[in-house]
Amino acid sequence: MFGFGQLIDILKKDPKKIVFTEGTDPRILEASSRLLAGTFLKPILIGNVDEVKKAAEEAGFNINGATIIDPLTYDKMDEMVEMFCELRKSKGVTPEQARETLKAANYFGTMLVKMGEADSLLGGATYSTADTVRPALQLIKTKPGNKIVSSCFIMVRPGATGENEVLAMADCAINIKPSEDDLVEIASETADCAKIFGVDPKIAFLSYSTFGSGKGEDVDKMRNACEKAKAARPDLAIEGELQFDAAVSPRVARTKCPNSEVAGYANTFIFPDINAGNIGYKIAQRLGNFEAYGPILLGLNAPVNDLSRGCNAGEVYSMAIITAALA
Ligand SMILES: CC(C)(COP(=O)(O)OP(=O)(O)OC[C@H]1O[C@@H](n2cnc3c(N)ncnc32)[C@H](O)[C@@H]1OP(=O)(O)O)[C@@H](O)C(=O)NCCC(=O)NCCS
Repeated sequence: MFGFGQLIDILKKDPKKIVFTEGTDPRILEASSRLLAGTFLKPILIGNVDEVKKAAEEAGFNINGATIIDPLTYDKMDEMVEMFCELRKSKGVTPEQARETLKAANYFGTMLVKMGEADSLLGGATYSTADTVRPALQLIKTKPGNKIVSSCFIMVRPGATGENEVLAMADCAINIKPSEDDLVEIASETADCAKIFGVDPKIAFLSYSTFGSGKGEDVDKMRNACEKAKAARPDLAIEGELQFDAAVSPRVARTKCPNSEVAGYANTFIFPDINAGNIGYKIAQRLGNFEAYGPILLGLNAPVNDLSRGCNAGEVYSMAIITAALA
């Protein structure tokens, strides 16, 4: 079962470079100092060099060894502008517009990943989700075979016996109203991501209905998406549409859907839309004592992840390890 030790072991063998777009934020600096002390990750902090150093000194964090890059003095800016224009040529972006856009740390940091100067990016300590994710959608883009970028949360609850309980939930952060086909892709990507965290995915397409007990468009959407997902990924255990109780309670599942192997034991939950998903993972986090890791972006060509603006340094540290390990 998932533990950070395993991810750190992966990174120790091949330390990755991770961009932090908010280089002067004390939470980023604290996490960077811990990562540097661990010597398994190489932070790249975006910001004015003097300001980043001063912020670290004032907050009392040792960031010796971190790379600090200021977009305003970056020596490969011409190359970056050229690549940016090429990537956005369908939008008619001029070099002047590109140069202006690249002054912003979110676009600049994303381009560092695109240019191969870094392996991954973590932002969002001060940027909104949209402002962290949009540059990745526009520049890193979806990987071959994927139509959308989506996201999942890995939910971890320490068990009484020391064994962690690990679940995956999606899409709680990106796609507002996913279509049936979007849900198929979300389920497939989430299952593959869950496996990285030691989960043997049992996937439930959630609804207010179990096997037709309720009626409505959204019920049909989840049932159809589930059937399509079964056809697309015959290697995965998938069931739906299921109510949450039928998905997780063996007793309820025995009554509502006795012939399902997933019902009662689901650990990977696909929500009908972002309303349900976002509320759902927060209920598990706030009332169910699960730690929530994410949103982990799925379907991108390189790992880019978003922090909550309310995050603390410990969360930055954990998300940096997850993000870099995905590289
Ligand atoms: C992800 C999100 C920010 C994108 O919004 P946006 O930037 O306004 O989207 P746009 O429609 O302007 O698209 C911008 C680009 O991203 C692409 N894009 C948008 N959503 C995408 C997706 N899910 N997958 C892949 N590409 C996507 C568009 O095709 C467009 O590309 P282009 O500029 O090359 O044409 C938006 O879906 C969103 O706000 N989601 C909810 C975020 C949120 O509030 N979460 C809750 C808190 S965690």
